[in-house]
Amino acid sequence: MKRLFLLITAVGFTGILSGNTQNNTLSTKGGNSNGVNDTHSYANSGQAYGYSLSLDIQVNFEKQSIDGIATWKIKNPSASDKIVFDTKGLNIKKVLVDGKHEANFTFGKTDELLGTPLEIPISKKTKSVSIYYNTTDKSEALQWLNPQQTAGKKHPYLFTQGEAILTRTWIPCQDTPGKRITYDAKVRVPKELMAVMSAVNPIKKSENGIYSFKMKQPIPTYLIALAVGDLEYRAIGKRTGVYTEPSMIEKSAYEFSDIEKMLNAAEKLYGTYKWEKYDVIVLPPSFPFGGMENPRLTFATPTILAGDKSLTSLIAHEMAHSWSGNLVTNATWNDFWLNEGFTVYIERRIMEELYGKEYTEMLALLGYQDLVNEVSDLPKEDTKLKLNLCNRNPDDGMTEVAYEKGAFFLRMLEEQGGREKFDAFLRSYFAKHQFQVMTTEAFVAYLNKEYIQKYNLSVNVNEWIYEQGIPKNISKIYSDKFEKVEKVEKDWEVNNNYAGIPFSTWSTHERLHFLRHLPRTMSKTQMEGMDKAFGLTASGNSEILTEWLKLCITNKYEAAYPKLEEFLVNVGRRKFLKPLYSELIKTPEGKEMAMTIYKKARPNYHAVASNTMDAMLNWK
Ligand code: BES
Ligand code: ZN
Repeated sequence: MKRLFLLITAVGFTGILSGNTQNNTLSTKGGNSNGVNDTHSYANSGQAYGYSLSLDIQVNFEKQSIDGIATWKIKNPSASDKIVFDTKGLNIKKVLVDGKHEANFTFGKTDELLGTPLEIPISKKTKSVSIYYNTTDKSEALQWLNPQQTAGKKHPYLFTQGEAILTRTWIPCQDTPGKRITYDAKVRVPKELMAVMSAVNPIKKSENGIYSFKMKQPIPTYLIALAVGDLEYRAIGKRTGVYTEPSMIEKSAYEFSDIEKMLNAAEKLYGTYKWEKYDVIVLPPSFPFGGMENPRLTFATPTILAGDKSLTSLIAHEMAHSWSGNLVTNATWNDFWLNEGFTVYIERRIMEELYGKEYTEMLALLGYQDLVNEVSDLPKEDTKLKLNLCNRNPDDGMTEVAYEKGAFFLRMLEEQGGREKFDAFLRSYFAKHQFQVMTTEAFVAYLNKEYIQKYNLSVNVNEWIYEQGIPKNISKIYSDKFEKVEKVEKDWEVNNNYAGIPFSTWSTHERLHFLRHLPRTMSKTQMEGMDKAFGLTASGNSEILTEWLKLCITNKYEAAYPKLEEFLVNVGRRKFLKPLYSELIKTPEGKEMAMTIYKKARPNYHAVASNTMDAMLNWK
């Protein structure tokens, strides 16, 4: 899936090393309150910590800056003489202690990856600190879009992306997943626009462009999120609905018409939904991810609007995070598989409830293929579930290992004890640890006690979690439908008869399987034949299009180049950019084309995507 490229790590290396020494000093003194050391945060949250945030901010599109005050209510049980926040790319103007005394704050050394620690002197009695600040063009969480980059082309747009360590680039905070906070916010935006957050949201524009938000359930900072644009809301079910620009509302509401059912299915499996509402916002195409599980309001790419609901497992995924991730949260980014592996497993269980086993096994098999491919490319150390990302970007852990190896580990556990017992185990796991953080080690202890020993099972847990590669007892998945696809593909290789391919009757997943199985080298006539028969270059399904475009690049099928360029310039989803650019740069001509396109496309990408692509393309 997505890995940060080596170059970025190399560039930031000295900085990270020096930064980390400092960080360790802080951490040994305190660490997080749960005793877990998060090497990706400078905060001394084990000693003094902010537990509740009041944001008072103005969103200024002319200056492309957020300006305002972050007031943190704090606790200081160990009577520390300072509280340390994470900041990166922020301009800190002044700090008031308890709303009145100006504090003599200082900065620690800046680290290229982790940012600059902000140290504020406090006393045992300090109740709050108010940080006056503004964001800058270095605030990587933010993407400011001009009207041309939106669907409506009339109004600007802003969205944030906090995970993993970017919230510190738009709010001074103790930016570790190991600490939970509540927040409220007052947000001023131009009055033609609506603001929404990972909180209780408006369903109509306000008269004056002022919006108030409240998130009363405690969340980690990476889940604070904001989007501002020309938005409209449409309810889908009692607890569900969708926000997007007016021209996309109809299509989005259709695509997501099953979300209330998904939510009911998830609750039946894993217990009450704790966040009251579940809405989705469909963002402009530059959103760097497929989806982001901001509580109460999933942020999603418009590239899942296929018109036939065939890519909605992504919504099941983000919804599943309402249990795995948002309710029980990875303690550090080394435990990221606890968030994502659990979530992929639950995503498939939700999909199975709604669409059946046959459908879901196709999803699982595609996931298995992704896993095998990625494991063969990754450094061996990175194929363990539990990682050590000290001195590295947490993005490095965002691979199929966390997602698919994690999900297949849970699937194996389910098969060992049987579904009924495993479901009960997971339900109790979420109930017992809700609104808490979880380390890999604590999970293993709980698993051993409440599942493995309880039911007398014998399972190679340590091999799955602490060892490299894919264990032998990974589930074997069988899909009758995929076997048929493979047979059709083989026949075509022999007879080149396009009429023998029942493409139009296939689901998106069968089509993907077919495209993945085609020979990597194809003649111009064959490429034209496929394209003519199935309209692949014109496909409105982003997953199918990406799979096809890869093949077009490999085989220099020039008829698809205009489409390739248009797609790369408009879409900023890293999962699509990575394979397409990486296929392009395999040849000198392709590399030239990649650079020409990238020059045009780069201004459209969010920092999360352009950082990855800069490194891959050696962009200076
Ligand atoms: N939480 C992730 C996105 C993420 C992970 C952002 C790490 C930043 C750092 C989200 O839930 C996710 O996994 N999205 C996937 C979709 C999913 C169906 C696998 C994506 O965006 O591709
Ligand atoms: Zn996820």
